[in-house]
Amino acid sequence: MQYVLLSQKGPSVSKLCLGTGSFGTGLPRAAAFEQMDHFYEQGGTFLDTARVYAAWIPGGDQASEKTIGAWIKERKLRDKIVISTKGAHPDLKTMDVPRMGKAQVRRDLEESLAALGTDWIDLYFLHRDDPATPVTEILGMLEEFRKEGKIRHYGCSNWKPERIEAADQEARRLGYEGFISNQLLWCIADLNVPGIGDKTLAAMDKETFAYHTRTGKSAMAYMSACKGYFTKKRRGLPLAPDLEAMYGNPSNEALLERFPAWETALRSSAASIVLAYIMAGPFPAVPIASFSSLAQLDEGLAASDISFSPDILEEIRKSRRFLCP
Ligand SMILES: NC(=O)c1ccc[n+]([C@@H]2O[C@H](COP(=O)([O-])OP(=O)(O)OC[C@H]3O[C@@H](n4cnc5c(N)ncnc54)[C@H](OP(=O)(O)O)[C@@H]3O)[C@@H](O)[C@H]2O)c1
Repeated sequence: MQYVLLSQKGPSVSKLCLGTGSFGTGLPRAAAFEQMDHFYEQGGTFLDTARVYAAWIPGGDQASEKTIGAWIKERKLRDKIVISTKGAHPDLKTMDVPRMGKAQVRRDLEESLAALGTDWIDLYFLHRDDPATPVTEILGMLEEFRKEGKIRHYGCSNWKPERIEAADQEARRLGYEGFISNQLLWCIADLNVPGIGDKTLAAMDKETFAYHTRTGKSAMAYMSACKGYFTKKRRGLPLAPDLEAMYGNPSNEALLERFPAWETALRSSAASIVLAYIMAGPFPAVPIASFSSLAQLDEGLAASDISFSPDILEEIRKSRRFLCP
């Protein structure tokens, strides 16, 4: 496993972040423990969760955070693991109504701390934005939590690039560390915009990629395994219909045709290459991926060992449009 600094002041994290959205629900606790044990044994130190996982499943409220909390307690690993979690997610029934009030976010944070059984969050993300709340106010709130020792660093998730830039400028002006990372929808595939079900998600685009490249701000890419799209196609495995809606397009078909050559050149699998591509970003970039088996997790872990030749990396980068309207 290799490690990367998310900002100059840290934290240092494993280049693969384990996504835990299904922990304690789709992936029962015993299997989630098995994944976290294996991930940690192989050098993995970075877990991503959220206050809202998996509130959409009856009885699933905070299942992911609770599962992680139980694991770090049982294994006595709190100091060894970097946890990112998220608050300020809208109520699931009213996704168009932001929840950025200080009392709301504080309650989310306290509930995350309780479920995780920890005194601090290493990296606290705002899961969505409220464009009507000035960035100064939002940064002030986060700084308050940081000074209380409840969070060590903070970041934004699903924010529009202009709001990220405004928050970065304001943080510089006020002498704050500001958002150390941007967690967004990003993978090797070009995404069909109409196929992205949740319209409140923000995806990597040319402008955002250029901003990260220029500023060196770190990115955390979610759905970075493209839900297994290329891997399953390469292996002739059945695909869920919503995957074609999101990833099926000529650009990704052309990429798929190139995988056999890259698999040979890099002595690796499509599943590993897909994640390694994010790790190879021209700025610190960590793929967050989830896995439904230990075999899948092993392919994810192998991504950290891949080193692209400049020609393969350039070939992929040049071909990427990010979004297909
Ligand atoms: N900030 C946000 O708004 C946000 C939003 C979404 C997600 N996230 C974070 O990102 C994490 C990952 O997202 P995600 O699970 O939706 O997307 P993902 O990691 O792209 O997809 C995971 C799925 O990819 C398939 N896969 C992975 N490795 C594979 C392999 N080696 N071979 C074949 N298939 C493989 C598996 O599908 P099968 O199970 O079908 O085999 C697996 O369940 C979440 O757990 C969460 O932490 C954040």
